[in-house]
Amino acid sequence: MSGPAKIAILVSGRGSNMQSLVKAAGDVYQVVVVASDKPEAAGLAWARERGIPTFALSPKGIGKIAYEAALDGALRAAGAEYIALAGYMRLLSDKFVADWRGRIVNIHPSLLPKYKGLDTHARAIEAGDAEAGCSIHLVTEELDGGEVLGQARVPILPGDDAETLAARVLAEEHRLYPRVLAEWLTR
Ligand code: GRF
Repeated sequence: MSGPAKIAILVSGRGSNMQSLVKAAGDVYQVVVVASDKPEAAGLAWARERGIPTFALSPKGIGKIAYEAALDGALRAAGAEYIALAGYMRLLSDKFVADWRGRIVNIHPSLLPKYKGLDTHARAIEAGDAEAGCSIHLVTEELDGGEVLGQARVPILPGDDAETLAARVLAEEHRLYPRVLAEWLTR
C-alpha cells in the first residue's frame, strides 16, 4: 500500500461515528472528505471546523440520479478510494454501489443478520433478546446485507428502552468502526 488509504465519510446527522473515524485516522487511512445529503448536518460543521474538506448536497429538487452523480464526482475529485457510511440515512442506488463495488462499508446498530433497516434497538428489546450490538459490513445492493466484517456486543439490561440501549451500543460503535475499518483496509 502506498500511503494511507483515502476515505470519504458520508453522514446525515450528528456524525459521532464519523468523529471517531477522523480521530483514529493515521498511517492506515486518512479522511479526504466528509459528505452529507443534509447540508445542515451537525457532523458537517464539525468536520469543517477541523479543516476537513466537506461536500453537502440535498437530493431534494434535483433527483436521485443527478444527486448521486454529483456526489460521486465530489468524492472522486477529493481523491477518495473508499467510502465509509456513518449514519448516512439514504439508500444508495444499485449503480452507485456497483461503481464503488467492494469499496463501501457501513455501520449498522444491530447484530446482523438480525434487524436490518430501522428501529433496531426497539426491535431487539421487543423480541426479548439478551444482547444487542453493532456490525460493520460491506455495502451491496441488498439493504444491510453485505459481508459482516466485525461486530461488538452489549447486554440488554432490565429496564432498557430504545434510548438507553442505543447509548450503550453507540459507545461500542465508536470503538468498533475505526478498528474494523483499519483491519479491513490492511487485510
Ligand atoms: C448510529 O447508531 C449508526 O449505527 C446508525 O446511525 C447512527 C448514527 O449516529 N447507522 P452518528 O451520526 O454516527 O452519531
